[in-house]
Amino acid sequence: MTSYAVNDLPAPSSVVDKGAAVPDPRTAPAIRWGILGAGGIARMFARAVQHYTLSHIAAVGSRSLENAQAFAKDFQVPHVFGSYEDLVASDEVDAIYVASPHSHHHAHALLALAAGKPVLVEKAFARNAAEALDVFATAERQGLFAMEAMWTRFLPATALVHEVINSGEIGEVVSVIADHGQRLDFDPAGRLLNPALAGGALLDLGVYPVAYAHDLLGAPVSVTAKGRLTDTGVDGQVSLVLEYASRAQATLSTTLWAKSATTAVIAGTEAWIEVPGDFYCPAAIRVHLPDGVTREIASDFPAGHAGLAFEAAEVARCLAAGVQQSARNPWRDTVEVLQTLDSARAQVGVVYPGE
Ligand SMILES: NC(=O)c1ccc[n+]([C@@H]2O[C@H](COP(=O)([O-])OP(=O)(O)OC[C@H]3O[C@@H](n4cnc5c(N)ncnc54)[C@H](OP(=O)(O)O)[C@@H]3O)[C@@H](O)[C@H]2O)c1
Repeated sequence: MTSYAVNDLPAPSSVVDKGAAVPDPRTAPAIRWGILGAGGIARMFARAVQHYTLSHIAAVGSRSLENAQAFAKDFQVPHVFGSYEDLVASDEVDAIYVASPHSHHHAHALLALAAGKPVLVEKAFARNAAEALDVFATAERQGLFAMEAMWTRFLPATALVHEVINSGEIGEVVSVIADHGQRLDFDPAGRLLNPALAGGALLDLGVYPVAYAHDLLGAPVSVTAKGRLTDTGVDGQVSLVLEYASRAQATLSTTLWAKSATTAVIAGTEAWIEVPGDFYCPAAIRVHLPDGVTREIASDFPAGHAGLAFEAAEVARCLAAGVQQSARNPWRDTVEVLQTLDSARAQVGVVYPGE
């Protein structure tokens, strides 16, 4: 593992105006994607890439050739591999999308980078900040692109939130309140409940509100968390209070025992923004003004997983520009989000095997 610390990470080569309108994903250059792990999110990603970008899915790699073939049939993928090693070695792909469980992101990202391939790695980027630093140190050394697939950051609705905040209309942001709850406590051996697969609410669901608060307020100066564990020993439900160098606080919660509103509220001294559920992929936001008037601002892109096209387009643009990290979701942000999750997980008492 690297001796890199967060302050050793290079900054992105450009600065982005997060409030500027997000370009249509169909205007990004075409690249050839290789999918590592033919599971649930890989299917949604493939659908979004094929429908809303100029890129295509050139190859799929699975631990089982049969699974890769079934995926390839559904998405007309020309190159099919029965191992991840063969996938990353292929000359037919420009970038690898790592869609395995969080427990394996570190190893699978390193596998792709070692084969000279840029990587887009599903959230949570790794089990902990140390693993993420190791991947980014490797990417830097190899001169390769790497990014966490925190797709909310690239959505038009998120740009609208930044635009309203940057305009000064809501004043100083003093409170961010966000939750993410889904009823997912079904299979004790599955990736959501299994400690060996880095299960738990925080890494799967809580990463969204934590990354959202980070996008708006930066890294917290303190993290306080209380949680309850599942019978399998991972975090089933966690509530967090984050404090910042300013007077702002974020109040966040996550549970895999119940569907919750999954909304975000950004309260400023002059007005507040409501991001309706599910806040991590909305089509519109609402600005609530002190005189009781509410203004809804809609994005012209559908809500939901079609929005995965924006992160795919970001990767294509970054590769064309020859940069190693996205200015909208830089390496430092991914590591700082994981540092917050590390702290919360330590406070609720969850350690993964081998950590
Ligand atoms: N962005 C989003 O909205 C979103 C939504 C859901 C999930 N995710 C993220 O995507 C990742 C995958 O989630 P998922 O819901 O797609 O999971 P999933 O349906 O269980 O698929 C994960 C895939 O990973 C591969 N894999 C490799 N090693 C594995 C192991 N030891 N055990 C189980 N599977 C293994 C398998 O593919 P093969 O058998 O083909 O090798 C499996 O199909 C997670 O990190 C999750 O947080 C993101």
